[in-house]
Amino acid sequence: EQTGKSGYDHYMLKEIHEQPVSLRQCISGRVDELDGRITVEELDDVGAPETVQFVACGTSYHAALYGARLLRAAGIPANAYYAHEYATAPAPVSGADLVVGVTQSGETADTLSALREAGGRGAETLALTNVVGSTAARESDHVVYIRAGPEIGVAATKTFSSQLVGVNLLTARLAGRGVDRRRDLIDGLRGVPSDVQAVLDGSTAAAVVEEFVDATAFFFLGRGLDYPVALEGALKFKEITYEHAEGFAAGELKHGPLALVTSNTPVFAVITGDGEAARKTLGNVKEVEARDAPVVVVTDGAAEAGRYADHVLEIPRTDERLAPLLANVQLQLVAYHMAARLERAIDKPRNLAKSVTVE
Ligand code: G6P
Repeated sequence: EQTGKSGYDHYMLKEIHEQPVSLRQCISGRVDELDGRITVEELDDVGAPETVQFVACGTSYHAALYGARLLRAAGIPANAYYAHEYATAPAPVSGADLVVGVTQSGETADTLSALREAGGRGAETLALTNVVGSTAARESDHVVYIRAGPEIGVAATKTFSSQLVGVNLLTARLAGRGVDRRRDLIDGLRGVPSDVQAVLDGSTAAAVVEEFVDATAFFFLGRGLDYPVALEGALKFKEITYEHAEGFAAGELKHGPLALVTSNTPVFAVITGDGEAARKTLGNVKEVEARDAPVVVVTDGAAEAGRYADHVLEIPRTDERLAPLLANVQLQLVAYHMAARLERAIDKPRNLAKSVTVE
């Protein structure tokens, strides 16, 4: 088994380190540096949908939330839905809409049901998946493969980062000129593999978690595109450490979650980009600091966020649409190192399955 893990202690750590390669595969032939074009052959016969609806579960739902935000920013109405709810209470949908199932395995029962429901109502369907020939790939009108390679660890890592790239490609293709600063996006996408490598080489996550082994709960905050990453950071953390972890929309902090914040609840704040969102999340960081919570900021240097943190997990500067992907790699390492420190069953967490094929 050690051979399968290529010398890593766990498949999860191996797969985290495979990301520079899996991401390179995901963009290969799709992002052209010279002529500045983004081409996704599988989407050649997709028209211009009026709205895009994502359906997904678990980690893939977080990629869907991020994708919906990207599309809306590019001028296309889009929403993300939990597949289990969509299957029984679908959003209004017609032949002018595209419903995208985001599913690593292509076999998640809830996501398949949601796609079938949407198809039955006349929508065009698309599977964004990792597994060639999977049920979602076969049953959908269109399929885009994320090309992450096999993922063995139950906790999804490299497939999530490829899903984030996948929804960027989809957005660039569907929104055409609606996409702002296309050149920056292209440069950012081409730089993602080496930027992820830089995060892997320089991360201090292992030392940071050492400070918090006795904490009672762990909170993750983010806004805008950083919000789905905060949710994913918390999900990964709870899945493999068995510690209580929650992701919050930073702007909702004062409407409830703040009551939980104490000196024993470390707060991980994801703050990327130079915009208003980063500055506002920084304001939230100050609020939790005033309650004596230890603060770890995951940042590209936005709004000088590091000045207000007890610890900083740095990521390289890149296009602001892609910075959340890099921040997520730091949070993968946070979850992994805490779980390793607590000697959990990292590759096979209790009660969880890699693919949930029953509703
Ligand atoms: C299970 C896995 C998760 C995954 C979810 C959706 O719960 O443990 O890691 O995110 O299913 O899986 P899918 O294959 O549809 O992406």
